[in-house]
Amino acid sequence: MAKSTNITWHEATISKQDRRIQNGHGSCVLWFTGLSGSGKSTIANAVSYELFRQSINEYVLDGDNIRHGLNKDLGFTEHDRSENIRRIGEVAKLFVDSGKIVTTAFISPFRSDRDQVRALFDEGEFIEVFIDCPLEECERRDPKKLYEKARRGEIKDFTGIDSPYEPPERPEITIHSDQVSVEEAVNQVLAYLRDKHIL
Ligand code: ADX
Repeated sequence: MAKSTNITWHEATISKQDRRIQNGHGSCVLWFTGLSGSGKSTIANAVSYELFRQSINEYVLDGDNIRHGLNKDLGFTEHDRSENIRRIGEVAKLFVDSGKIVTTAFISPFRSDRDQVRALFDEGEFIEVFIDCPLEECERRDPKKLYEKARRGEIKDFTGIDSPYEPPERPEITIHSDQVSVEEAVNQVLAYLRDKHIL
């Protein structure tokens, strides 16, 4: 429920379309979703690096970093995760309006939260990228040793252990990060962007 009244929406002088024309490429959000340790941040950063190298306006919004600032008041209850994703969705929308290709790397475990973010965007702007990696493999990697802690009961509500992950039903892109290299994953995403004439 909106808490502020007497506010009006200002149309900006420069439109999203103007920025896209000046940039010479489209703008969109590449919404990475998957378990902790599946490779979201690694692949999102590698995609962004390749876009940057090609002089494309890009930016990465990364779970662990956003939780140090904008969302430092949020934890990992269902309510807090939903609010985390809602805020990131709004921020991503601003980035898309600014003409960038923004990649986001958040577990975003709940389908309804991701669908609500999708609904903020115009057709084709929200690209759901499912980083599909079996829990056993994520747990084997355990880069932050958090699965170990969760198994010992030292972290509560850990995704995949005692909190659910709802995989996307119709993601635009699926990456099997246990089967392909980071480079192949990047190529897969870039091929999609070219196919949709965003690049
Ligand atoms: S989300 O569920 O709200 O989308 P987000 O991507 O922002 O999660 O943060 C996940 C990261 O926070 C994980 O990669 C991990 O490093 C850390 N983390 C800490 N506690 C938890 C938890 N209970 N469940 C999942 N991740 C956690």
